[in-house]
Amino acid sequence: MKRMLSGIKPSGQLTLGNYIGALKEFVKYQDEYDMYVFIANLHTLTVYQDPEILRKNLRDTVLLYLACGLDPKKTKIFMQSDIMEQAQLGFILSCNIYLGELNRMTQYKDKLSKGEEGLSSGFYVYPTLMAADILAYQPDYVPVGDDQKQHVELTRDVAVRFNNRYGETFKVPEPLIPKQGARIMSLSDPSKKMSKSDASDKGCIYLLDDPKAARKKVMSAVTDSINEINYDPKNQAGVANLLTIHSALSGVSIDVLVEQFKGQGYGTLKKAVADEVEKLLIQLQTSYKELLDQNILKEVLAQGKASAQGIAHATLVEVQTKVGIEI
Ligand code: TYM
Repeated sequence: MKRMLSGIKPSGQLTLGNYIGALKEFVKYQDEYDMYVFIANLHTLTVYQDPEILRKNLRDTVLLYLACGLDPKKTKIFMQSDIMEQAQLGFILSCNIYLGELNRMTQYKDKLSKGEEGLSSGFYVYPTLMAADILAYQPDYVPVGDDQKQHVELTRDVAVRFNNRYGETFKVPEPLIPKQGARIMSLSDPSKKMSKSDASDKGCIYLLDDPKAARKKVMSAVTDSINEINYDPKNQAGVANLLTIHSALSGVSIDVLVEQFKGQGYGTLKKAVADEVEKLLIQLQTSYKELLDQNILKEVLAQGKASAQGIAHATLVEVQTKVGIEI
């Protein structure tokens, strides 16, 4: 069975973008692959987090993984910081990644160009830890949304470089990007990605949003003045985003939706999308509440750790031997 690994960084509440671009895909793949999904808690620290809020976000993330349908019998669910081998491998990999490569990372360049001050060095080297998160488990595939593709490419580059320097060690993994829904856009500014770190939350649907409030966000989504329903992400980004969200949640293809809504106003499309979003949130939150009462977090994470650690440990020992730091 081929192996797959991915993670989500809970630096805030999980969003509809995380669900469509990542979680929904993980659930789809868990029957066919040896699946590992972790909570990237170390990565959250690259930007200051209030410890109490962070703890709540971590718990909610595990519960939402389960509520979305990740089955701990099939998917190994674990906390990044529980596997210390990952961070140790991260340091060794950082010694095989050039400054120039980190300088080219889009997320870093974006923050620099916005003139953001007080960026931590952890934020700068974050892609090196992400490479270790992945390579420690020797996966074949890494399912991610569009914005993480560059990080997986850097991971592939360092894997190839390491293998060339020290002999075959790492499997070179492939990113798996969904054909549709890999970049869900903000409802209030469809030129930007829907993101949990958005300054205003009007454009972002959180999976734990009140379903009625989420409806309102969809109903006030920014569209355009063309007033025709087409799938044209370049010229009608807002409408294309609404069609993409509908299609991802209803399973109806975009072509069929465009036919179905032809000649109708944007209000009708928004209402249909709001129905789909509300249905999803009610369903997820019902299972989230049931899981909250079951008190199963520790058990799920302990089980995940037990399955994941051996693999990461074996990789680290091999790496340490190859680079010469074991005597
Ligand atoms: P993060 O937490 O920002 O996002 C988690 C996953 O959700 C996807 N995603 C989206 N997909 C579609 N539309 C959106 N608006 C949207 N927003 C987020 C992301 O592409 C991602 O797949 N660095 C990673 C976490 C990480 C990781 C890893 C992932 C750390 N180590 C190793 C894979 C493998 C991150 O910050 O993702």
